Amino acid sequence: MLTKVVQEKKSTKIKTNKVPDFEYGTIWEDPVSGHKIGCLDASKKEDVEKLMDNKKAALAIQDPPYNVDINNEFGNLPLNKYINWSEKWIDDTINALGENSSLYIWLGADIRNGLQPLPDFIIMMRNKPVRVRNFITMRNQRGYGTQKNWMAIRQELLYYIKGEPIFNVDAEYTDIPKKTKGYYKRVNGKLTENFERSKSLTIRAGNVWHDIQQVFYLMHENIEGCFAQKPLKSAERIIEASSKPGDIVIDFFSHSGSTLLQAEMNKRIAYTMDIDPSYCKVTAARLLRFRRTGETGWGRTNVLKDGKILLSDEDLIGSPTLLDLI
Ligand SMILES: C[S@@+](CC[C@H](N)C(=O)[O-])C[C@H]1O[C@@H](n2cnc3c(N)ncnc32)[C@H](O)[C@@H]1O
Repeated sequence: MLTKVVQEKKSTKIKTNKVPDFEYGTIWEDPVSGHKIGCLDASKKEDVEKLMDNKKAALAIQDPPYNVDINNEFGNLPLNKYINWSEKWIDDTINALGENSSLYIWLGADIRNGLQPLPDFIIMMRNKPVRVRNFITMRNQRGYGTQKNWMAIRQELLYYIKGEPIFNVDAEYTDIPKKTKGYYKRVNGKLTENFERSKSLTIRAGNVWHDIQQVFYLMHENIEGCFAQKPLKSAERIIEASSKPGDIVIDFFSHSGSTLLQAEMNKRIAYTMDIDPSYCKVTAARLLRFRRTGETGWGRTNVLKDGKILLSDEDLIGSPTLLDLI
């Protein structure tokens, strides 16, 4: 494969209306914060090695296609082929992670198909040099279902570790105030009430995240045409819990670029890829737009249709400000 590394001049800001274009093999290096976006294949060892360039990541947030056929929109491989494919990008991910690191994987469980691919994926992971640490569920607001079954609103998130990585528990606290008083316990002979004992006035997210709003068209961070966008808040929670400023965070299925944008906001360095050139471009445009306008997405504007970008580079990045003209 021919790799084209697009390096722009180092500067503190990018004075351009041009968003990088991608084709398979292109790796764009961000001159401001050091992020990388590769139009590459996560299941190809050599592609991942090119992106990593011998660097190791402290955290991986992977959100692969789930192989779940929702509204006939998404592909559906035979299960064994899907698991074989997953094993390849999992091995690539584990190689790209440092000695003490964390691996989060978003996955689906199809209620019409034996809850797959989740169970077989977990079994495949048993042979890998990582340990399972938790099994998180995020509650989606919208779901799919019928009048004859519970609506499917779960979004599964597997959490594995390699070695002994950090876990910053402060990241777990939500904005939801603690309300229930009166859970009494004796501490050093004194009867205490739960508010006296707790570290925070808000509740912990735990491993059922019901406080994160699923992205929809009225939110600024929305990208119309990205069918599987994860909320920035979920990326923030993971990044703050499992990495430090300056760490490399990897995401091999970038799509809307939520991990990269949140890494920028949290002062981490994102090495990300997507096999589809349009999603690579959206990821880069989202970063450049954020730097120029402070916006985290395009709200109600149609950005992509059938995977193709509808906006010009100028419209993607937003209007120049006076500072751009200096
Ligand atoms: C479920 S989406 C990821 C959503 C993302 N976390 C977000 O918040 O926007 C999956 C993405 O994986 C990409 N993809 C599929 N196969 C791939 C491969 N072999 N290598 C890299 N990317 C791939 C697709 O183009 C798609 O954009």
